[in-house]
Amino acid sequence: MKKTILVAGSTGNLGLRIVNTLAAKDVTVRVLVRSNCSAEKLNAFERLGAEICKVENWNIDEIKTHCIGVSCVVSVLAGLRDVVIDAQKVLLDAAIAASVPRFIPSDYSLDFTKFSYGENRNLDWRREFHEYLDKCPIAATSVFNGAFMELLLDEMPMIIFKKQIVIYWGRADYKWGFTTMDNTAEYTANVAIDDRSPRYLRIAGEVHKTISEITGSKFKFIRIGGQGLLGMFIKLGRFFSPGKNDLYPAWQGMQYMHNMIDERSKIEVLDNNRYSGINWKTVEVLLMENNFKNYK
Ligand SMILES: NC(=O)c1ccc[n+]([C@@H]2O[C@H](COP(=O)([O-])OP(=O)(O)OC[C@H]3O[C@@H](n4cnc5c(N)ncnc54)[C@H](OP(=O)(O)O)[C@@H]3O)[C@@H](O)[C@H]2O)c1
Repeated sequence: MKKTILVAGSTGNLGLRIVNTLAAKDVTVRVLVRSNCSAEKLNAFERLGAEICKVENWNIDEIKTHCIGVSCVVSVLAGLRDVVIDAQKVLLDAAIAASVPRFIPSDYSLDFTKFSYGENRNLDWRREFHEYLDKCPIAATSVFNGAFMELLLDEMPMIIFKKQIVIYWGRADYKWGFTTMDNTAEYTANVAIDDRSPRYLRIAGEVHKTISEITGSKFKFIRIGGQGLLGMFIKLGRFFSPGKNDLYPAWQGMQYMHNMIDERSKIEVLDNNRYSGINWKTVEVLLMENNFKNYK
């Protein structure tokens, strides 16, 4: 019998990609959408052959009915504490109430298991959610993909192509973990149908090269400072622009950077090869596809 996979957060950037990948596999895809979901997105789900489950009120009883017969609930919710902890707990409790055996929490981040509370606000919420999840009678798998590679194109102010400079914190020879959103989605779709997936899986499209190897010698490297200075910037940023209701205030991006240049986020073993058929995109290819053809 075909497995049924339910995706919550299916209308989002990563969620939609996961639904797309699952739709091409031999599974039934159920998408959990809020009642205000646009007709455009509903039509897209219909075209993919997904079963659409509209939720009026995000509560256990209502979501439980959509979880009956599901073999894995994939959470791709994104938001502040009220989403990552509160809404995700409702989703998890509903899955358990419907006897769903497996759950994928909305992590898709660097591996925060070696970090402590206070080092990254957004990852703290995930950690707090894990504390609850790991006590629940359901098997869970987290996907750790480092940072989305696409952030290098604009949001992560690191490679300034026009000026041919690389601005960095920490060490220029540090090996980073970046994965494209599509690769993360493809991998997560495989995890969703893999009954034997372990608690944590770590992936990266590019770890074998440093940024200096990727960009080449023509780029000028400017080191701003180390973790100490970055820590001060974070404190100042948080003081002057708390952005409590913003999901990604500038200081939170700096917290992510602080974590990424930390030895504890170093990826020792990758699980990329657990599933075949994924064409892992490297930073170089992504840059070329985005018209930085002569970047070296
Ligand atoms: N590693 C990285 O570099 C990186 C970067 C960005 C994101 N991420 C992670 O990737 C995951 C997905 O992020 P994304 O950017 O794809 O998110 P997104 O596009 O903002 O989508 C968020 C999804 O969550 C749903 N949602 C939000 N609040 C909700 C609530 N209260 N109740 C129910 N559903 C709610 C939204 O539904 P509606 O459409 O109904 O609002 C939407 O489907 C998150 O875990 C995020 O933190 C990682």
